[in-house]
Amino acid sequence: MAINSVLFVCLGNICRSPAGENVMRRVLQENGASGVKVDSAGTAGYHIGKRPDARMSAELESRGMRVVGSARQFTAQDYSEFDLIVPMDNENTKNVLKLAKSAGDKAKVKPFMSFCKEFTNDEVPDPYYGGAEGFTLVADLMEDGCRGIWQEIQSAS
Ligand code: 4NP
Repeated sequence: MAINSVLFVCLGNICRSPAGENVMRRVLQENGASGVKVDSAGTAGYHIGKRPDARMSAELESRGMRVVGSARQFTAQDYSEFDLIVPMDNENTKNVLKLAKSAGDKAKVKPFMSFCKEFTNDEVPDPYYGGAEGFTLVADLMEDGCRGIWQEIQSAS
């Protein structure tokens, strides 16, 4: 089935999933693919309405991105609005799947790390309580996995 929309999901929607959203936007732009909808959401509601974390934004801006987004919570409705739902870690995957209403919903959920070719971690580590190197790693993982997602979009179309 064609992939016309992608939703990245983490816990707070201020670090990892906005990074996925913004890197994916750039990959699509570089490839002239303007018709794919991209968004991000958090399984928790602590940070609703907030801009992406300043440390995450600084890392992305250093790579030439203009960072967009404001945090929102993942809902069951997202299953109706997105073709591909990409959680960052195992806990996020579990919480996203709890809101699935059908096998078709569940089939839309694919862990972010499954799209990486260079990195073999099984989860995207939460950088929130750590140092700058955690944000660099998240951005490196996003560059790898979002290229993989672009390949998946092309092969599914
Ligand atoms: P994210 O990072 O899930 O990548 O947005 C976090 C942001 C906030 C918190 C945890 C993780 N927090 O506990 O407030």
